Amino acid sequence: MDFFSIIRGRRSVRAFRPDPLTREQVEAVLEAARWAPSPHGRQPWRFVVLTAPDARMRLAEAMGATWRRQLALDGQDAATIEARFHRSRQRIIGAPVVVLLCLYLEDLDTYPDAERQAAEVTMAVQSLGCAAQNMLLAAYALGFDGGWMCAPLFCQETVRAALGLDATLHPHALITLGYAAQDPARRPRRSLEELVVRWE
Ligand SMILES: Cc1cc2nc3c(=O)[nH]c(=O)nc-3n(C[C@H](O)[C@H](O)[C@H](O)COP(=O)(O)O)c2cc1C
Repeated sequence: MDFFSIIRGRRSVRAFRPDPLTREQVEAVLEAARWAPSPHGRQPWRFVVLTAPDARMRLAEAMGATWRRQLALDGQDAATIEARFHRSRQRIIGAPVVVLLCLYLEDLDTYPDAERQAAEVTMAVQSLGCAAQNMLLAAYALGFDGGWMCAPLFCQETVRAALGLDATLHPHALITLGYAAQDPARRPRRSLEELVVRWE
């Protein structure tokens, strides 16, 4: 596949076949993440790789309990909460590999003022997105697929507790990996005319 076929072909997969991935396949995806651009080259991200079913189950159950409480707070009815909980849980349990992407801020520059410090953290978050995109592209280029789940961002402490993670690790996203159960529907893209707001 040429570069633009990979860019255009990568798709978010939310249901996977049970077929496992090899350690080499997972390492190739992580290797792609390692080469992502980052502020000052500090690579402010760390990865937690979950392949064991009980680890994925523990994470799904813990996040699910917090999410249920949040959905109830939003005023969602019990049936909707159950349906959404089961869908989300299935995505984590049903993926052969789940990688938790954590922000790691300890090596960033420090500033005396809050504004520049916040910008530094924003740069770190931006680069976590770069690492995630590299992972998704690598998976697709290697013949399997990935999906992105933002849920950990909304229950960081729950995720840390479920996996026994250090307080310096800030859970941001789950990248699920495996072979697609079926081809997903793709969302259309905005035209360049709409996206480029100025070109002088
Ligand atoms: C920061 C970010 C968070 C996302 N969170 C979720 C998520 O929680 N659940 C989900 O199903 N997809 C999530 N996605 C995937 C998008 O829904 C998906 O990329 C978009 O619909 C375009 O579809 P495509 O990736 O198949 O081209 C997320 C993507 C990004 C970049």
